[in-house]
Amino acid sequence: MSAQIIYGKQISDSIREELRAEADRLKAEGVTPGLVVIIVGEDPASQVYVRNKAKACEDLGYYSEVVRLPADTTQADLLTLIERYNADDAVHGILVQLPLPKHIEEKAIIDAIAVEKDVDGFHPESVGNLMIGDDALLPCTPSGVIELLKRTGNSPAGKHAVVIGRSNIVGKPVAMLLLRENATVTICHSRTPNIEEMARQADILVVGVGVPKLVKKNWVKPGAVVIDVGVNRLPDGKLCGDVDYEDVVETAGWITPVPGGVGPMTITMLMANTLKSAKLSKK
Ligand code: GUN
Repeated sequence: MSAQIIYGKQISDSIREELRAEADRLKAEGVTPGLVVIIVGEDPASQVYVRNKAKACEDLGYYSEVVRLPADTTQADLLTLIERYNADDAVHGILVQLPLPKHIEEKAIIDAIAVEKDVDGFHPESVGNLMIGDDALLPCTPSGVIELLKRTGNSPAGKHAVVIGRSNIVGKPVAMLLLRENATVTICHSRTPNIEEMARQADILVVGVGVPKLVKKNWVKPGAVVIDVGVNRLPDGKLCGDVDYEDVVETAGWITPVPGGVGPMTITMLMANTLKSAKLSKK
């Protein structure tokens, strides 16, 4: 039997409806959620992401600013700008689009963002809060993965989740969130022996490594939930994930397509974080 397909766009749309309603309530109380997105340089992919973030804000009735800076902007000038938005009460979320030009130290920039406005969840204190289980701003793609699981009735509690990949933005935080949701979690990576065998133990398999079509059907337990966080561009220009979708779709119980699975959730969770930060700013 073929897997049930997890359509992230549909789930994302229904979350956005909920966010719009909540934002309207908050606005009636005098607080408009506000997000500033800062982009340095002309990277074409980043330009698209930034436009999509601004559009999502518009659709939900948030206040939004996009600051476009030239590629030769100094680190000191960028830090000064962040300080200004840290102190701006109309702004509840600050996102500096990555990657930054090489002369700017990414860590210095992330560290400078006020933790209560860190809607990316990349600040070391946000990462610490995630580990401890505090109610913090959580990184967007990982929290999108958890939403997809919960909203398709695949609660991680009591399940064995195997995460393939240990990056700071996907593998590690996804593993920590799955643990928070009471899964038993195994993290695999490029140095894991018998990785297929490990993956085959998974009730929930989350893959984020950036290797096109790495995961084949012999990596997947029949009926497992397969969440593909990978986005790779093939030589013919098409997008594909880290999972060989066509190969796995007959074995898995549930599967996310690429595109249209995890991808649409990232900006939606950014919107959720901005709203959360706006709500917390009232207290
Ligand atoms: N570049 C690609 N994805 C992201 C993201 O989620 N946040 C930021 N700040 N930059 C990115």
